[in-house]
Amino acid sequence: MQVIENCTPDEIQKAAKALVDGKLVAFPTETVYGLGADATNQSAIARIYSVKARPVNHPLIVHISSINQAEKWATDISEYALDLARHFWPGPITLILKRSGLALDAVTGGQDSVGLRVPSNPVALNLLAEFEKLGGSGVAAPSANRFGSVSPTSAKAVEAELGFFMEEGDLILDDGQCLIGIESTIVDCTQAAPIVLRPGAVTTEMIDKATGLRNTFNLDGPRVRVSGQMASHYSPKAVVEFGIPTERGHGFIALAGFATPFGTIRLAAPKSSEEYAKVLYQALRRGDELGLERIFVIEPQGNGLAVAIRDRLKKAVSGK
Ligand code: TXA
Ligand code: MG
Repeated sequence: MQVIENCTPDEIQKAAKALVDGKLVAFPTETVYGLGADATNQSAIARIYSVKARPVNHPLIVHISSINQAEKWATDISEYALDLARHFWPGPITLILKRSGLALDAVTGGQDSVGLRVPSNPVALNLLAEFEKLGGSGVAAPSANRFGSVSPTSAKAVEAELGFFMEEGDLILDDGQCLIGIESTIVDCTQAAPIVLRPGAVTTEMIDKATGLRNTFNLDGPRVRVSGQMASHYSPKAVVEFGIPTERGHGFIALAGFATPFGTIRLAAPKSSEEYAKVLYQALRRGDELGLERIFVIEPQGNGLAVAIRDRLKKAVSGK
């Protein structure tokens, strides 16, 4: 496995070629880093599952370079799904659509739907466009972490998580720190109105406005499998709890307005929800690097990105 620190057009083209050759390429997106493989290559997809140690029935998101590729992967795309694609792609939203024949069971988890996303990170977009120029249709990519752990928001974090399990010819494209820092909003577009399955930077308010429909926020009873909805997701090795640290030596993550209790280790002090999202996973990872047993967190209040942060924190807290 090789880390590409300077993602020139040349290097991106090599990475696209590696995907065509069935290799794995971890790449940056505006949300988190993904572990990519040719979505039509059964054995490359199988390697994603083994490198991540991910149970095989969990579907993967297919990444494409533009809305024009969507019809390869999906059928019966509704008007409101097109509205969402036109409004938010390239960007941090994944649309769950009725699958086409191209989507492998290994990608869809055997369901009759497929998740599609056009990321906005330029390295990702160029990689996808180059891959498509070489005849590729889409890149399946889950977050580039071991199953159940925290998504990586830097190439270093990808290397630390997966480097050991990757092989010769596999690549990690380094484009620094992810802009948003938490995973895309996932919207089920197979029903009469959109249903948010995982909150993210595209908020329910933005979805309502773009579609003119009132979407349902469905976090309690998943009707479709979304691995991020499992309780034990997004958790570091440390035990994560809500509240103020009770003893010295514990980690603490909260908005900057909260003072650091004496003797505790401040892992992040973001000034806004945007900054909170951006530093959260990095802070949890740092807690693990420091070998902390407990990390205390205080949730941000309000709407917008704060909803998604509270969702991930709740999962990190119930993870252990
Ligand atoms: O921001 C993101 O979405 C990142 C970047 C790399 O694009 N990817 C990501 O992938 O978070 P992953 O696999 O860690 O989470 C994707 C979630 C999974 O929980 C999966 O179950 C769900 O999307 N998913 C994918 N296809 C689906 C489908 N057809 N129906 C329901 N859920 C689906
Ligand atoms: Mg994930």
